[in-house]
Amino acid sequence: MSSLNKLSSWIDIGNHSKKISGKSLNEMFKEDKDRFNKFSVQRENLLLDFSKNHIDDKMMKLFSQLLDEIDLKGKMKDFYNGKKINTSENRSVLHFLLRGSYNSKTKELYYRDVKKGLDKLKSFSKKFRNGDIKGNSGKKIKNIINIGIGGSDLGPKMICEALKCYSNRDIQNYFISNVDPSNLSEVLQNIDPNESIFIISSKSFGTIETLKNANICKNWFHNHTKTNEDFKNHFFGVTANTKRAKEFGIDENNIFPIWDWVGGRYSLWSSVGLPIILKIGFENFEKLLSGANEIDNHFKNEPYDKNIPIILACLGVLYNNFHNCETHAIFPYDHYLKYLPVYLQQADMESNGKNTSKDSMEVKYSTGPILWGDVGTNGQHSFFQLIHQGTKIIPCDFIGFVNSNNEKEELHEILLSNMIGQTMALMKGKKMEEVEKELGSKTNYLNYEILKNSKVLKGNKPSNTLLFDKLTPYNLGRLIAIYEHKIFVQGCIWNINSFDQWGVELGKMLSDEVYKKINKNDRSNIDNSTSGQLDFIKKFRQ
Ligand code: F6P
Repeated sequence: MSSLNKLSSWIDIGNHSKKISGKSLNEMFKEDKDRFNKFSVQRENLLLDFSKNHIDDKMMKLFSQLLDEIDLKGKMKDFYNGKKINTSENRSVLHFLLRGSYNSKTKELYYRDVKKGLDKLKSFSKKFRNGDIKGNSGKKIKNIINIGIGGSDLGPKMICEALKCYSNRDIQNYFISNVDPSNLSEVLQNIDPNESIFIISSKSFGTIETLKNANICKNWFHNHTKTNEDFKNHFFGVTANTKRAKEFGIDENNIFPIWDWVGGRYSLWSSVGLPIILKIGFENFEKLLSGANEIDNHFKNEPYDKNIPIILACLGVLYNNFHNCETHAIFPYDHYLKYLPVYLQQADMESNGKNTSKDSMEVKYSTGPILWGDVGTNGQHSFFQLIHQGTKIIPCDFIGFVNSNNEKEELHEILLSNMIGQTMALMKGKKMEEVEKELGSKTNYLNYEILKNSKVLKGNKPSNTLLFDKLTPYNLGRLIAIYEHKIFVQGCIWNINSFDQWGVELGKMLSDEVYKKINKNDRSNIDNSTSGQLDFIKKFRQ
């Protein structure tokens, strides 16, 4: 493929974007009464409204041309057929298989591996629910401690919180991820080992944070219990590296498999989801999978202009590359989704934070955005000020649910109204005339001029709104799969490998070197700043 910024559709998008930038979103709505119908997709109880964006019919057509020019269809085919599209690691990328989205090329793999893995999870979940998985001295298991980091932590943690209303409230999930004694201590001091099981979740079983924490938990457990038999009943592994898990001491029957074709940040659908299954039950986990499967089909079959992940991907590219926006914000208006932005940070930034193209060239355009966000309405009372009146444009996704999982309808209506109110305010803004009218008789106020100017909002700020009828396991599966496919499409457009993460390796290596020097006098091969920091640590270390 020739460089992205030389493609004719890319150049046309740039020119057209400049051309329409003189027209505000408000004007676009005034001119076209059908704008919402044109620029929204409704799929049963799911709505994507993308009409509040700097687009018109021509822009959408140009993006379709771009997708043809980069051969998105061919790339999707390769993806679904299991071609090794993660070229730097020579791996297929098949996380969609975990939710049953197989085709004739991948069906065998599904039945050989995935189905078997699911059956194992199902039967374990059944035993757990029936109370057949007992702790020492026959105690009922109440605590599930997941030890893992990155994709082996963020997905299960996010889903367990998101689906609390569908869960067994007697089960307490804990997550130990950080190699920080504070993370671990706060968990261990709260639990009785006889009522707890530990899941060591690591695709590689080689991640230092996870292994250090796992070893400490193992020793802690041994100190609190009597026999090796006890350890076997309380420690489980989720990994693609069975050998290392066995060496650690986990019984082979207690190891749940994943495969090299599941990327860590795409792994919650696999055995990595074990803590989710134990918390919400296997049936609800299946609903999560079938929601994602529904979006897999949607992504595969719908035309570009009705295809939710594709539309979101194109809009993201529009702002990232043609409006020079550096960040993208995610605002779920549901308190149970408080970990969603952090989860999506790994999914998106570890996938598309790349500067080398698939043809081994340095890219000459901006790739993945900085992703951030928080739950509404909390964000409205902190950083929303900058989105409304700051000097930067921040494209936002607002995610809402028509019905709450809890009573107190009035609160939920206020929540929803806030979400919609924000998208209106961002677009509409507030003109000087409106401010003057609002201030009315305050014209003799001492700082009237200053106040007047401070209250003007330029508006014209873009946003997407995703609305579902309710936060259910099925809808959550759909929501996450939408973002996964959006990330895939953006990676295709930017011509980067969304499925490796070499950028994180250097930091790991240097941490190792620093660790060897911490508390020592050896300052060889280190820079002056690092050396100064090490001296300070040595001086104050107790
Ligand atoms: O270092 C980054 C990373 O490899 C992530 O991609 C991954 O989710 C995380 O570490 C944990 O890896 P593992 O599951 O192999 O312990």
